[in-house]
Amino acid sequence: MSKRFAVILAAGQGTRMKSKLYKVLHPVLGKPMVQHVLEQVKEVGLDEIVTVVGFGSDKVKELLGEQTKFVIQEEQLGTGHAVIQAEELLKDKKGTTIVVCGDTPLITKETFKNLCEHHEKEGAKATILTAQAPNPFGYGRVVRNDNNEVERIVEQKDANPNELLISEINTGTYCFDNEALFAALKEVSNDNAQGEYYLPDVIEILKNKSEKVTAFLTANFDETLGVNDRVALAQAEKTMKLRINEQHMRNGVTIIDPENTYISPEVLIEQDVIIYPGSIISGDSIIKENAIIGPNSEIKNCEVGKDTVIKQSVATDSKIGERVNVGPFAHIRPDASIGDEAKVGNFVEIKKASIGKSSKVSHLSYIGDAEVGNNVNIGCGTITVNYDGKNKYLTTIEDDSFIGCNSNLIAPVKVGKGSYVAAGSTITKDVPSDALSVARARQTNKEGYASRLKNKLKDKE
Ligand code: UD1
Ligand code: CA
Repeated sequence: MSKRFAVILAAGQGTRMKSKLYKVLHPVLGKPMVQHVLEQVKEVGLDEIVTVVGFGSDKVKELLGEQTKFVIQEEQLGTGHAVIQAEELLKDKKGTTIVVCGDTPLITKETFKNLCEHHEKEGAKATILTAQAPNPFGYGRVVRNDNNEVERIVEQKDANPNELLISEINTGTYCFDNEALFAALKEVSNDNAQGEYYLPDVIEILKNKSEKVTAFLTANFDETLGVNDRVALAQAEKTMKLRINEQHMRNGVTIIDPENTYISPEVLIEQDVIIYPGSIISGDSIIKENAIIGPNSEIKNCEVGKDTVIKQSVATDSKIGERVNVGPFAHIRPDASIGDEAKVGNFVEIKKASIGKSSKVSHLSYIGDAEVGNNVNIGCGTITVNYDGKNKYLTTIEDDSFIGCNSNLIAPVKVGKGSYVAAGSTITKDVPSDALSVARARQTNKEGYASRLKNKLKDKE
């Protein structure tokens, strides 16, 4: 197989986004657009990837890192000018060069593969990925001759009224013979409505040289959406969301309301999981068999075990075991580990803490910087007092212990195995195993005092 290269165009300012964030960094389902593009296009098998970035594009470089080489386009003089920046890295190489825009995040690896195969089979110098658009406004139109061969592409702003009626659009993705591409780019001028060097002009230049130019018409217009503004960004989000949700449903996941469920591309979900509306699952999350998520739960970078139920809760960067009950209204913050069959109930916050098997934190508690053993019961309103304004300290609660309601455990402190802490205690010293610790003022009852007080107050009136 001949070599394949890719050029990703990502230097445009994205004026129409009206944003301080670089256009191609705007996320679709939590992942920046240009990353979607790179991940899909590289699946065709690439010998080299070059991403064209603009001035001040450190964040793009940071994001894509080693996966691609970078060239800088100092001034954004058009898509043709952008591709020319890659010449220093690609010139004189033999093979196919795919050029793709960093703002078309929905094109799939299958479409890229089909495009390349079509191009190489046809032995063309250029192949344009085209689509029939229900509303072609804003896109370059594909002008064909009487023999239905592609002649050239005309941009929206340069098109005459007849050309504006054409519904076949340029998706902004192409395959070129690498050497023919850079040779033709030298002839592109900026004599057009926008005063830019248009990459699509390469088509007409090659055609005029009687080189073979073809189009590969994809049936999936949905995939080819170019995101130029936030209206299109929302459309991209919607299309990708439904695509991902459909895949999960076909794999045996029940999604009650796919329109209102947001699952990022990397997330793994096993069979018979049920997801209720308003849930957002993102990052490197895995949801295991029979788990029930939602409604209205946000899970990021978490492992959720079999048969676990998470209702109306937020969990981040944590591991939640099997048959665990979380919520409603719990907050599991980074570095938490919740053991099998544990319970994290309403208005409970867990941070950087491990909760052992079958332990319960059922209501209104804060457990941070803590190691909680197995079969521990943490009563309502318990707080691990972990922070002195400067440093954080560890609370250890050993197996089978029972923490009474409304207790403060002032860290660093350890509650030994099988011990009891009386409700309302403020524990400042370690509690030995098997002990009962009462750390609260003793109750005194003053018999008859209330009525004496009332009479006294009455006399004063
Ligand atoms: C472009 C095509 C149009 C096609 C559409 C598909 C041109 C002239 N037009 O139009 O035919 O229908 O895509 O979505 O190519 N970029 C640079 N440097 C520049 C200019 C742009 O890197 O100087 C990058 C942008 O970051 C973007 C991509 O090229 O990722 C496309 O540029 P954009 O301005 O969005 O082109 P469109 O007007 O959408
Ligand atoms: Ca665009």
